[in-house]
Amino acid sequence: MKAVVYHGSADIRLEDVPEPKLTEPTDAIVRLTSSAVCGTDLHMVRGTMPGMREGTILGHEGVGVVEEVGPYVRNLRPGDRVIIPSTIGCGCCSYCRDGYYSQCDHANPRGSRAGAAFFGGPVDTGPFDGLQAEFARVPYANVGLVPLPDSVSDDQAIMLSDIYPTGWYGARLAEVTPGDTVAVFGAGPVGQFAVLSAFQQGAGRVIAVDGIASRLQGARALHAEIVDFNEEDPVAMILEMTRGIGADRVIDAVGVDAQRASSGPAVPDADETRAFEAEREAATAGGARPVGDTWVPGNAPSQAAHWSVEAVAKAGSIGVVGLYPPTLNAYPIGVALNRNLTIKLGICDHRRYIPELLSKVMAGTVDPARVITQHQPVSSAIDAYQAFDRRETGWTKVVLDPAA
Ligand SMILES: NC(=O)c1ccc[n+]([C@@H]2O[C@H](COP(=O)([O-])OP(=O)(O)OC[C@H]3O[C@@H](n4cnc5c(N)ncnc54)[C@H](O)[C@@H]3O)[C@@H](O)[C@H]2O)c1
Ligand SMILES: [Zn+2]
Ligand SMILES: [Zn+2]
Repeated sequence: MKAVVYHGSADIRLEDVPEPKLTEPTDAIVRLTSSAVCGTDLHMVRGTMPGMREGTILGHEGVGVVEEVGPYVRNLRPGDRVIIPSTIGCGCCSYCRDGYYSQCDHANPRGSRAGAAFFGGPVDTGPFDGLQAEFARVPYANVGLVPLPDSVSDDQAIMLSDIYPTGWYGARLAEVTPGDTVAVFGAGPVGQFAVLSAFQQGAGRVIAVDGIASRLQGARALHAEIVDFNEEDPVAMILEMTRGIGADRVIDAVGVDAQRASSGPAVPDADETRAFEAEREAATAGGARPVGDTWVPGNAPSQAAHWSVEAVAKAGSIGVVGLYPPTLNAYPIGVALNRNLTIKLGICDHRRYIPELLSKVMAGTVDPARVITQHQPVSSAIDAYQAFDRRETGWTKVVLDPAA
């Protein structure tokens, strides 16, 4: 079968690989009908999410049809359409039973304290082969797979595999309550779903910050008030827009590949620039290998974190869903402490939120497919990755057709 395979930093290839087989009684084999490229995949290819094993199939967003089930998958049949949650949980341990699926005690073969198990990630997450492929083995399929009604399209469903639940989770972590003013850093696909989710959770205003016009326009279409950090200082602007109070809640939907301002009043001074460069070294552990303007790690890993603590109101709260690697130890803890902030972070417990978000889609109150900007056959996956990596206009969310 065809799959997108990781070979090294800046080296991914479309290859023919063997089809997966059932190995555990709770496994299912799913034939993918839709997959997608995510900002998380970029961290791994850029080298800012280290520890990838050569030969791992990439991708953690998938929708498909059950092809085959193990003997302990007694709730699904071949032919069922399903959403595959990005993270894997066993459904038996106390964490899963409390809804903390991404902190499952059993799913990660590296041990109960190794962290979230997910498809197509670094060694410490399993590793499990990913979903940018024609078929995938899904562990604990009886727990993870969410059945899909015919009324929900693949385009709607693929947004529910990772990024809509993650945006929703970001708003939950930030403790959004009715009337709040919420600032969302990052207007990529996850940031756009954070905007939508913040409104759905009752936000009165949402302010979206990014440096890319097309992504800001996506946030504006969802009725966020937009700020371009290459034109205005986002902290000064958020204070100005809130009469000096700041945002009640902040969602960081940027992560380690954050950029600093390249123009305008927010360009960092020489000392700040040196500090960001040192962080980039630490984050990539020397493993980055950009090719021209492709696969370039972000030049200010803690920039979104700094802006978050500066832009939030006193005693406000911050939810961090942008991914940071264990190698990065830069968070402005002193400023946060001095302002009595609450900061919550994490890997989304996808399985916990997918059913309720699916019901919103079924009820017609939201169409998550509107965030998709591109459909590509998997045969063009590498070109699609590169265009998304360079954040070319019109390449905000790329959905892949695994069979084409
Ligand atoms: N926690 C989770 O479970 C989870 C799940 C999915 C994705 N993620 C993470 O969420 C993040 C966003 O994912 P995505 O697919 O939207 O990625 P993306 O790379 O498409 O989007 C990131 C956006 O942030 C913008 N940006 C860069 N520097 C910025 C700054 N200093 N301030 C404001 N915006 C800035 C970029 O221009 C871009 O539009 C990634 O870090 C991804 O790994 C986390
Ligand atoms: Zn993703
Ligand atoms: Zn579990």
